[in-house]
Amino acid sequence: MERGSKFYAGKANTLYEVLDDSGDVLPNVIEMECTDRISAGDGDKKDVVEGKGYANNLVSTLLFKKFAAAGVPTHFISEGTTPASKFVRWAVMIPLEVIGRDFAAGSFCRRYGVEKGRAFDPVLVEFTYKNDALHDPLITDDAAVQLGLVTKDDVDKIYVYMDVINKVASDFFAELGLTLVDFKVEFGYNEGTGELMLCDEFSQDTCRLWDADGNSVDKDLFREGKSGKAVSDVYQKLVSMLEAME
Ligand code: TMP
Repeated sequence: MERGSKFYAGKANTLYEVLDDSGDVLPNVIEMECTDRISAGDGDKKDVVEGKGYANNLVSTLLFKKFAAAGVPTHFISEGTTPASKFVRWAVMIPLEVIGRDFAAGSFCRRYGVEKGRAFDPVLVEFTYKNDALHDPLITDDAAVQLGLVTKDDVDKIYVYMDVINKVASDFFAELGLTLVDFKVEFGYNEGTGELMLCDEFSQDTCRLWDADGNSVDKDLFREGKSGKAVSDVYQKLVSMLEAME
């Protein structure tokens, strides 16, 4: 498989067509490249963080392989043509962000007035409706089904997958001495088979990780006002931990 033309540049990822050996565009496969672009606050705040694309792709690829081995279908096919990219199955995305929380942080604390760090067991699952005009509001699973965003059967599957994803990712980060606080994932349908699968990414952009002293090792540094080198350093810190583990 070879990289074809760029057809989409999102906030943090760029998507490319994929060509077969004769140069024809392959249906149902794309190459997804994690970039160094970073944004927060509905895209108001933007910067470039050196090495972030590589770090995110590394973490996401390791985890997606573990999720698949634990029985969660994913869009991942194989490593891509650059260290920050991968080949993935083309998906029809469900317009929901699915958030898993093991500890209270971020918008949960603001919304319910609870203290940061309160533990949840089993993982607390929330849904937000991906809709820029509405600023991605929180949505109940019932409303998501009634609005036709997802079927009831698939909501049931998502809850099961969220438990597995949470367990696999928590164990993975615990081995590095990090606590998985919360995370956001997205699901879609395999365009060929219609199968529900985990898509997008699982990275420091999309989860909160605390080290033993409670310091953030994730995008929260950027959300809280740090930029450039300081943010790059926390992405690199996780890369170094992973390299030391090999
Ligand atoms: P929150 O506390 O701001 O709702 O975030 C919960 C988790 O979801 C946190 O790990 C960050 C992640 N997240 C995203 O990846 N993208 C988003 O747009 C939002 C709002 C949160």
